[in-house]
Amino acid sequence: MSKIAVVTGASAGVGRATAVLFAQKGFDVALVARGEGGLQAAAKEVEHAGRRAVVLPADVADYEQVESAAAAAEESLGPIDVWVNDAMTTVFAPLGDLDPDDFKRAVEVTFLGQVWGTMAALKRMRPRDRGSIVNVGSALAFIAIPLQAAYCAAKFACRGFFESARAELIHEGSHVRMSMVHLPAVNTPQFDWCETSLPRHPQPVPPIYQPEDVAKFIVEAAHDGRRAKIVGSWNKLLVAAGKVAPGLANQYAARGAWETQLTEEPLSKDRPVNLFDPVDVFNDAGAHGQFDDKAGGFLDPSFLRSLPQTAKTFAAAARATTLEKLERRRR
Ligand SMILES: NC(=O)c1ccc[n+]([C@@H]2O[C@H](COP(=O)([O-])OP(=O)(O)OC[C@H]3O[C@@H](n4cnc5c(N)ncnc54)[C@H](OP(=O)(O)O)[C@@H]3O)[C@@H](O)[C@H]2O)c1
Repeated sequence: MSKIAVVTGASAGVGRATAVLFAQKGFDVALVARGEGGLQAAAKEVEHAGRRAVVLPADVADYEQVESAAAAAEESLGPIDVWVNDAMTTVFAPLGDLDPDDFKRAVEVTFLGQVWGTMAALKRMRPRDRGSIVNVGSALAFIAIPLQAAYCAAKFACRGFFESARAELIHEGSHVRMSMVHLPAVNTPQFDWCETSLPRHPQPVPPIYQPEDVAKFIVEAAHDGRRAKIVGSWNKLLVAAGKVAPGLANQYAARGAWETQLTEEPLSKDRPVNLFDPVDVFNDAGAHGQFDDKAGGFLDPSFLRSLPQTAKTFAAAARATTLEKLERRRR
């Protein structure tokens, strides 16, 4: 009997790579996002892998649309075995430049999108006492960086929501599994279409990985049900620092995660933005962004070349943390 996976954010980026990998592993896939061009192209890739695909345009910030997508997925394909909450959006801007409506929208898509997806999946999985939910997280669910307050807040909230929902399943002795996979920086279209007030084109903070390299951890989590996975050695280090020395991590983020989020390229005036609507319903952005040449992960030469500067930034952050402590004692 075939297995059924639902992937939100399946039209592009990590979600697209995840949907295709599920198909390659023998799953029929329900593809949820807003842009029909990307969804139809994803469906072709799923079918190319020999599996059935169903395209379900929906805005994950709207509970009714997510619930309808879940119902349509089961009607077309059958009972859902796996639900992946991947869809997101973000705004790159210092807090002072952030439009409150943009902040609200980024949180609604990135956080509530995961909540609505989890609720729609649990509504179907709990009565059957089987199924697997995988929520996509980030190092930024542990360490918040400047210029992305809405996204960081949403990812922290996603982690809190996930732990609570998982504890409830354990409490009731359910066999439904929930996992959260915390990704490193990934080369996806996110940076080409996210809202920004900054004068330069945004980029993922290196080291950068390819969507296919991280998708396999999401598929693996759906199978093994492990509570949390942190993908990438650098990511593991950052998450550990956020837990063990949050003050130091904050000082490091202030120094090391401003310029590294920006390329040298001036922001194009006619750049599309996906915050409220998909950039172009007929567009297919694919899984990859524009950083293929830097997406070699931890061993990428451009990342290795940046390590001496990273060490200096870390030393400055450590000095500032110590001074902060001394200053507090003096007061
Ligand atoms: N890229 C990174 O560096 C990175 C790092 C850590 C974690 N992550 C996590 O990885 C996941 C995927 O990110 P990504 O970089 O692949 O993003 P992306 O390239 O921007 O793709 C986002 C996907 O979400 C969909 N989406 C956006 N708004 C939506 C809405 N309102 N309703 C339904 N679908 C919507 C987009 O399709 P439509 O526009 O067609 O709807 C697209 O399919 C996210 O959970 C993100 O937090 C990414």
